[in-house]
Amino acid sequence: MNSIQPPISDVVARSADIPWVPQGSGNVWFKPLRISVAQNRWVNLLKVTKGGVVNRHRHLAEVEGWVIQGRWHYIEHDWAAGPGDFVYEPPGDVHTLVADVADEAEPMMTLFSIHGAIEYVDENDELVHIETAETKLRRYLEHCESAGIAPLDLAY
Ligand SMILES: [Fe+2]
Repeated sequence: MNSIQPPISDVVARSADIPWVPQGSGNVWFKPLRISVAQNRWVNLLKVTKGGVVNRHRHLAEVEGWVIQGRWHYIEHDWAAGPGDFVYEPPGDVHTLVADVADEAEPMMTLFSIHGAIEYVDENDELVHIETAETKLRRYLEHCESAGIAPLDLAY
């Protein structure tokens, strides 16, 4: 696995061959499509079922999102996003994601491109955990190992 040099050719990630990796306390999963440790940025699908929350966090770099299905909102903002919506989050944005889905069988799914570290914070904005491309890659590899799945080379 090579995480420093870009690949020598173009890449197609077959998302069906990549597992959903549990994220956080429950009802939230990510499916990594590309993780660039060298640039500390990554692209992943996020899936959140009914009752799922992505805990309050701060982005140190910008984020782009494209909603594929379901609806969700941030507690800290006054809008909600749905299928086909594009979301831009500036560096420094602090938010808590809540899925607005009524049915367990219809989770929200959004493609996120994340350009830098994420600081998870508590209700007083005190740092709890830092997520980086490196920790994201480790979570993916550990999940593959525990599930008996051969990991794909997503680190470029
Ligand atoms: Fe976020």
